[in-house]
Amino acid sequence: MAVTAIRSVGVVGCGLMGSGIAQTCVQAGYEVVVREVSEELLHKGLQRIYEAWEMLVSKGRVSREQAEEYRQRLRGTVALEELASCDLVIEAVVERMEEKLRLFTALDRLLKPEALIVSNTSSLSVTQMAAVTRRPQQVCGLHFFNPAPVMKLVEIVRPITASEETIETVRRFAESLGKTPVLAKDTAGFIVNFLLIPYLLSAIRMLENGMASRDDIDTAMKLGCGYPMGPFTLLDYVGLDTTLWAAEAIYEEYKEPLYAPPPLLRRMVAAGLLGRKSGRGFYEYS
Ligand code: 3HC
Repeated sequence: MAVTAIRSVGVVGCGLMGSGIAQTCVQAGYEVVVREVSEELLHKGLQRIYEAWEMLVSKGRVSREQAEEYRQRLRGTVALEELASCDLVIEAVVERMEEKLRLFTALDRLLKPEALIVSNTSSLSVTQMAAVTRRPQQVCGLHFFNPAPVMKLVEIVRPITASEETIETVRRFAESLGKTPVLAKDTAGFIVNFLLIPYLLSAIRMLENGMASRDDIDTAMKLGCGYPMGPFTLLDYVGLDTTLWAAEAIYEEYKEPLYAPPPLLRRMVAAGLLGRKSGRGFYEYS
């Protein structure tokens, strides 16, 4: 029997997505424990969250007291065991299946039997993650979009093993975060990345083939389609490594050339040009 009232939330991973997710959960009123693998990464992730709250205070969106109260409901740790009493744990670690399977196995041993485990994976099989636990009926995907505190959508990803009760509880949880959930089957890319990844890869192919410049392609999609960012700005924002992993996962499932990562993307990731987070991608950041 899964928990139906979520009070405490664990987030595993405090990178770009994990920190945004932890921030979102705190702001919605939950007690949150976020875990990173090292003190250094934890510090970096928590700093990102504190800076976001400072920004909200400086814009007058939240009061200084409210920001202080947020800080008190957020705890960082490097010990997975500190998530033991959470009602729901959100996995937001690196997009590598081996890592996810190791983590799901450990979480399953650690958490109370009624706790739910959800994955923020953008394209890997949630069914495979559920299958290494003794609670596959209490596992599903909950995919946030970057920046997590701002983007209104979450995809609830339904593995064939998930119970109706789990999906309903996670739907209510997503709504309590102020998000609009959509339901997708557990197929690579779900809804958004199935459509977004070929668009981003096509932009890279256009650049590789010399069909137009980086700036003109970005301007064209911003002004021609009303998108908030052109494809290269968005690639840098999301992270080139994240995009590559998503493309590989969808290509692996369907073998559709549309999803095959272009050589330039592979070379840039190999060179450490990951976008905003590394200081350079298609653009440079100071
Ligand atoms: N916490 C809380 N609020 C925040 C925030 C944060 N961390 N970051 C920004 N905000 C708020 C700002 O305060 C601002 O609020 P205001 O309008 O009330 O002042 C608002 O968000 C907009 O921020 P900015 O004014 O700084 O910037 P922009 O207006 O340029 O918007 C953007 C930035 C929201 C990122 C916009 O450019 C955008 O929507 N870009 C597209 C992003 C996108 O497509 N994301 C999805 C990527 S795909 C993905 O994530 C899936 C993955 O699996 C690959």
